Amino acid sequence: MIKEKQSVVITGGASGIGRALAFRFGRGGNDIIVGDVEESALNITISELRSEGISATGIIVDVADLDSVRSFKEQVISDFTPPYVLCLNAGVGAGGSISESDILDWEWVLGVNLWGVIYGLNAFLPIMEENNNGHVIITSSIAGHLSYPNMGVYNASKHAVLSIAETLYYEVQEKNSDIGVSVLCPGLVKTNILDSDRNRPEILTINDSLDESDDHDIRKEAVREIYNLALEPERVADLVFKAVESRQFYIFTEDTFQGAIQSRHRDIELARNPMLGANLVEEHLNDSD
Ligand SMILES: NC(=O)c1ccc[n+]([C@@H]2O[C@H](COP(=O)([O-])OP(=O)(O)OC[C@H]3O[C@@H](n4cnc5c(N)ncnc54)[C@H](O)[C@@H]3O)[C@@H](O)[C@H]2O)c1
Repeated sequence: MIKEKQSVVITGGASGIGRALAFRFGRGGNDIIVGDVEESALNITISELRSEGISATGIIVDVADLDSVRSFKEQVISDFTPPYVLCLNAGVGAGGSISESDILDWEWVLGVNLWGVIYGLNAFLPIMEENNNGHVIITSSIAGHLSYPNMGVYNASKHAVLSIAETLYYEVQEKNSDIGVSVLCPGLVKTNILDSDRNRPEILTINDSLDESDDHDIRKEAVREIYNLALEPERVADLVFKAVESRQFYIFTEDTFQGAIQSRHRDIELARNPMLGANLVEEHLNDSD
């Protein structure tokens, strides 16, 4: 059970799932520390949290930048108790086939989704281990279990953090540590992830016309339609809250993808060629017909 006035640190907490986590954990009387790169959204979220009586602090951090994460950590530990709950959640999405994906797409997405988790663990895990206390939640995705086409960059980032979370889970058991570990593997959640480009640094932005093609626009619209029907982030936050209390490792938010995950595991067991050929967008459009 989370005690009064423990610190809950959430990266990417200005929007979507992270924002919902801030409200959910804040209702328990905890100190909520939200780290995010988008200043305007961060300010709005913090004032909304405070207007509900939640003790909330916003700190600008770029999780893809080691110095920024280290300075975030310094601010957290100078003003608050070491994190009891650490949600390494900031993330961005980019689509496109492996052959279309630019090196800048890889650098941006892996920088936030993978290095953001690595830097976060490197900064906060030692102090949590010293206290032998707390719970780490790493946000992966269904894309950490499956390799749908046209999402290769994102898939790679989410498979990597799933593996980090599983490894950490085994390591804390091995050390008989009291630290809990969970990996959040959402399906589709109604957030601002389709507009991840809003936070893409200029230096990692591509100046080409590929993204402006009609095909790309049609695909993006189709994905938006699906996301409008997706799960509310508050529901995800409830599941995460319960998982911390019950020390549950895998947090899935829907069972839609379990068949595909089982099929992938079976492919591996039987060493047969992967069977998942269907495209995520088309599959979902057909399902909702
Ligand atoms: N929405 C979904 O369907 C879905 C599904 C599976 C996994 N996820 C994962 O959930 C997490 C949260 O995403 P979301 O869906 O709430 O999207 P979102 O865009 O609503 O929120 C992401 C947050 O991360 C922040 N962020 C982006 N780059 C950052 C950086 N460099 N440093 C610090 N903060 C940064 C954004 O400002 C934003 O507040 C991500 O890791 C995402 O990959 C989302």
